[in-house]
Amino acid sequence: MEAGLESVVAAHTVLSDVDGEAGRLVLRGAALEDLAGVADFETVCARLWSDLGPDLPSDLRAALGAARAEVWAEVAHLDDGLVALSPVEGLRALMARLADGEGMDAALRVTAAPAVFTGALLRRREGLTPLAPDPEAPHAADLLRMILGRSPTAAQAAALDAYLVTVIDHGLNASTFAARVTASTRAGLVSAALAGISALKGPLHGGAPGPVIDMLDGIGSPGNARPWLEAALDRGDRLMGFGHRVYRVRDPRADALKAAIRRLGVDEGRLALGEAVEAAALEILRTRKPDRPLETNVEFYTALLLEALGIPSSAFTCIFAAGRAAGWVAHAWEQVATGRLIRPRSVYVGPQPSALRAAEWFGRGEPGR
Ligand code: ACO
Repeated sequence: MEAGLESVVAAHTVLSDVDGEAGRLVLRGAALEDLAGVADFETVCARLWSDLGPDLPSDLRAALGAARAEVWAEVAHLDDGLVALSPVEGLRALMARLADGEGMDAALRVTAAPAVFTGALLRRREGLTPLAPDPEAPHAADLLRMILGRSPTAAQAAALDAYLVTVIDHGLNASTFAARVTASTRAGLVSAALAGISALKGPLHGGAPGPVIDMLDGIGSPGNARPWLEAALDRGDRLMGFGHRVYRVRDPRADALKAAIRRLGVDEGRLALGEAVEAAALEILRTRKPDRPLETNVEFYTALLLEALGIPSSAFTCIFAAGRAAGWVAHAWEQVATGRLIRPRSVYVGPQPSALRAAEWFGRGEPGR
């Protein structure tokens, strides 16, 4: 067994298919490229959730808007201690206050919460008053408004929709696996999402795009890309936004997001820097790791897209959670409906008990009681 469980199949799912050899992502029967930039978040969320849990609300956009208004009450509990945390830690803490459950109400709360709490946390960090949600607005547009403090343009809202759809689900990634394990104990959707967000925040998973911005800022100009990247690898650092456990070719989500960036129309200089860094990184990784294909993953262009939307890099993981929460909910329902308690075994490789060891264990001559 590999330490990363890469050859273990831990679930059968109708939700998404990640083809690591072909570089293809299918979401409930539709190819990512036919959804991102085409369908909005609510449409894909409804498709993801259908036939897995309770009946869908007749108008998911309205139901999600009402859920944003409901979870807004928790913003009153946003004290200075929470604001001092990183945004994703603050988001996790606020989400922990939500009532748990396995039904549609809990699903809507979990999916609405990152949109509402992220804006509130960011504005409080700036000394500004959080903005209440607009239950009538589309989810992506309302999320952006609560962060930016003004209504986004149609192009900005569409770009965020494309992002949320692109990251909504992705097989048994670390956060979804954590969510499914938690759901398998019947702990509820809020608990499953909290497990998911805790796994998501690590830099090897959903915490990578913030460091991508640090990398681009550190490099500064295309000519500095190669020496900067070589020095980082010489130090033993990993290049954020590259490599993937499943993909042996380019992550298809990188292209979906690059297309969204082009539609949005970003600062050409910034995009040119990103492309130069990407090209240099791929070339260097091919030379240094000839046996291990390391290609661009979703996080590289996530960073450029969310930055272009005016979202602070400290909150990128929160925006990832805003999309992936819908996937965690779908997987949690699927796990409860079709799975069992997930409880793998471990092989004990430590010492066997003996009187001498017990004495050592308690740090004195006699075993403790
Ligand atoms: N930069 C430099 N070297 C790398 C990178 C990278 N981004 N990714 C992998 N490697 C190297 C490893 O150091 C390892 O080298 P070694 O054999 O000399 O020890 C080799 O390539 C194989 O790497 P693994 O650890 O086997 O790859 P794994 O499948 O476990 O890791 C991961 C996948 C975590 C995504 C890795 O590629 C990485 O750390 N990337 C950077 C962080 C990142 O972008 N994360 C976001 C992933 S997408 C997502 O989760 C939404």
